[in-house]
Amino acid sequence: MCGIIGYIGSRKAANILWDGLKRLEYRGYDSAGICTINNNHILIEKDVGKLEEIQNKINFNSMNGNVGISHCRWATHGKVTKENAHPHCDNNNKISIVHNGIIENFQELKERLIKKGHKFKSMTDTEVVVHLIADNYNGSIEEATRKALKQIDGSYALGIVCANEPDKLIAARNESPLIVGLGEGENFIASDVPAILKHTNKVIYLDNNEMAVLTKDNVTIKNNNGEIIHKKIAEIDWDSELAEKAGYRHFMLKEIHEQPRAITETLNGRIENGNINLANELNLNEGELKRINRIIIVACGTSWHAALAGEFMLEELAKIPVEVEYASEFRYRNPIVNEDTLVIAISQSGETADTLAAIREAKKKNANVLSIVNAKGSSISREADSVLYTYAGPEIGVASTKAFTTQLIVLYLFTLYMSNIRNSLNKETIRDLIGKLRKLPLEMETLLTEDKGIKKIADIYKDKNNALFLGRGINFPIALEGALKLKEVSYIHAEGYPAAEMKHGPIALIDKNMPVVVLATKDVYTYKKVLGNIQEVKARGGIVIAIATEGDEEIRKIADYVFYIPRTLYILSSILSVVPLQLLAYYAATDRNLDPDKPRNLSKSVTVE
Ligand code: F6R
Repeated sequence: MCGIIGYIGSRKAANILWDGLKRLEYRGYDSAGICTINNNHILIEKDVGKLEEIQNKINFNSMNGNVGISHCRWATHGKVTKENAHPHCDNNNKISIVHNGIIENFQELKERLIKKGHKFKSMTDTEVVVHLIADNYNGSIEEATRKALKQIDGSYALGIVCANEPDKLIAARNESPLIVGLGEGENFIASDVPAILKHTNKVIYLDNNEMAVLTKDNVTIKNNNGEIIHKKIAEIDWDSELAEKAGYRHFMLKEIHEQPRAITETLNGRIENGNINLANELNLNEGELKRINRIIIVACGTSWHAALAGEFMLEELAKIPVEVEYASEFRYRNPIVNEDTLVIAISQSGETADTLAAIREAKKKNANVLSIVNAKGSSISREADSVLYTYAGPEIGVASTKAFTTQLIVLYLFTLYMSNIRNSLNKETIRDLIGKLRKLPLEMETLLTEDKGIKKIADIYKDKNNALFLGRGINFPIALEGALKLKEVSYIHAEGYPAAEMKHGPIALIDKNMPVVVLATKDVYTYKKVLGNIQEVKARGGIVIAIATEGDEEIRKIADYVFYIPRTLYILSSILSVVPLQLLAYYAATDRNLDPDKPRNLSKSVTVE
């Protein structure tokens, strides 16, 4: 949604904050700003635009002070204007705040504060918070914040500084992610780990209704009544290098190329003597797993596409009935869930508000909740009964790539684990399937290193406004994902369809201006039918880009372009097939001079409903 970073220590705060914002820009990039305190004065610089544009207008380096807060915004309340950008300040220029979240009762509070003489400069919900704190200020910023929070309804991650108390940085959280980073003689707050990873790997995850009081040498966590809470310090094992571009032009391209490594790390330690072992990670024993008679998978966006692929895997191999739900819909339709239902929540960020709410709904109804999450220590990972992590590392590109493929890997591991426990597959078959799985990272590596002409294929999209993606079986969610990637980063209207559904409507769209990606890898059920679908597209003048299995010469005769992927099991081929679609979207965006890392209107982590 928005990104927050705060610093208190002996170094120049503005430089650390600016550098941290660059690592958080994926959370919001319509405006940004920094506040520091120097000689008991508040300094604020902010403007609209992406960080590199703002950098050309403002010299943040001229801001002195060893304590400060900063913010990159993704607008919710109030347009993208300089006035609406954070940090915000009270009327006496004594208190400044940055905020991520939504203050639901801001209108009512604003009217009350205006009556008391407060003057508002912005249209944001955030500004009421700083006025409210100022209204309660009586010499202690900590106390004033606590009093103000009691009057607020809604979600917030807040960073607060006060000119009268320059040795303090206050943080508070409810429903929006916030971490505290512990350094030597300096401390940090941030929305997400990559912002501070360069300085420390020791973090405290704030929970709802917790506040942190930071000085340069100390951090105290308190509840909203001011009572001290003792929290666990987590050590992050992400490499700070991983959060950099490492020579790639964009994070998206780097993260596409990181997939073989990410998959290897996700497999690590989970395969033992030719078997999958997830027992240590699951809070359900074999008896409980056998008793599950239904699985519901909840997720949003790309993670929802992974869920659809997971449905195919679990029904095909583990023979368990599975339903997939948009997390945003789940809690609004009274789903039938009981203690024999396993609800799986999939999320890269672990902070998606709708997915979190779906988990809470499922738990209320006594379901066991398993989460598949990338961000360690995130809210979803903590609230679920069990968590299976994807080890994709930090995903900075707004369009999800390596998180998706590692989600598919975890779903496949879980499927094989369940297949073994429930005897839906024999040991030998499982061993064989695991053998093929182990080869996947290398096959993907080959796919990524050999030049298979995807950049040239992407040129077709240069002057196109629409695109279709077709697939059947497990390739249907891959088609949806290909379409989502293309529209997100290149702004070309794209749709994914089950290939056979095309003739029930979308075929009317096909003409010589319509590129159609067809996922046509070989399987026992639908391959021949998909060839038929290609013929239907060709007969109407459409341009066909086929994703096919290496060695398939037949398809060359009917498709305009063919992108081959290595021969592997049908289910695993879907994990390879998404790679050319990610690259297609990337090159279609860069061909149009768009920045795929920062697509318009999008934010990496959707922490509001
Ligand atoms: C698409 C994308 C989004 C996310 C969705 C869920 O590229 O990144 O569609 O997949 O917002 O986010 P998580 O997985 O963090 O819950």
